[in-house]
Amino acid sequence: MTVHSPIAVTPGPVFPSEARTAFATAYPDRSTRLTHDLVGHPLLTVASLAALAERLPASSVEYNLGKLPLGVRAEDTPSNGLSLRDTILTIETNGSWAVLKNVEQDPAYRALLDAALAELEPIVRAGTGAMLNREAFIFLSSPGSITPFHMDPEHNILLQIMGRKTMTVFPARDDILVPPQQSESFHNGGHRNLVWREDFRAQGEAVALVPGDAVHVPVKAPHFVENGPAVSISLSVTWRSERSVAEGELHSFNALLRGRGLPIGRVSAIPEKQWLRRFAYRVMRKLGA
Ligand SMILES: [Fe+2]
Repeated sequence: MTVHSPIAVTPGPVFPSEARTAFATAYPDRSTRLTHDLVGHPLLTVASLAALAERLPASSVEYNLGKLPLGVRAEDTPSNGLSLRDTILTIETNGSWAVLKNVEQDPAYRALLDAALAELEPIVRAGTGAMLNREAFIFLSSPGSITPFHMDPEHNILLQIMGRKTMTVFPARDDILVPPQQSESFHNGGHRNLVWREDFRAQGEAVALVPGDAVHVPVKAPHFVENGPAVSISLSVTWRSERSVAEGELHSFNALLRGRGLPIGRVSAIPEKQWLRRFAYRVMRKLGA
């Protein structure tokens, strides 16, 4: 059966020229505020997203109760007891948080993602090489929801579409915020949530987002998100790079070494140039380590 989606409408650029300039200055290592022109896009209404959620496989959807403390273990995340469709259609009152993952599985959303990222591709190519694995995620959250302290493996720009939220972003590659063992387990299938300590707060930059705002979140820069007093919809456009892939390989390599009681190696700020260690990791993996 062919699934028909609403037609994507992208009348002009997604990122205005000032946003592209700001992105070029910050990429890849600094978080920065940007703007975008996707507010009111027909693919990003609550009704369109409820329809999309029904087309996506169950494995591409995650949802739970939204009022959480800043630090939560994955296994302690509470369910909201509703179906996905009801979660989305009554998001204003049900106190929940939902994410639609890999919405580029749907052709209309893929076209939207491709249009957005094509505008940034020359900047990305100059900074970290080819733009790999383009993926998009859509977050819906009830008033007052919290997304706990965590990190993600992708280069990410979060575009605020509806409602307000504050994203507090912390520096990447800080061994106190994210101990090396945590990075190693993350790259071996561990959960994204991190251990929160109140004394971390001063290191974070709180970026308040209203519709039309966006924020660049560097790879594995820890962050948490606090929703405002209305329903929030955000679109996250992400990609990988040779740098982000290499960083993951080197942490996985360290996990192998640590597991064998061998000394681990430093992951540099330019991990794509650590050829020898990456080669050693690939050999060990081939050998079934
Ligand atoms: Fe995140």
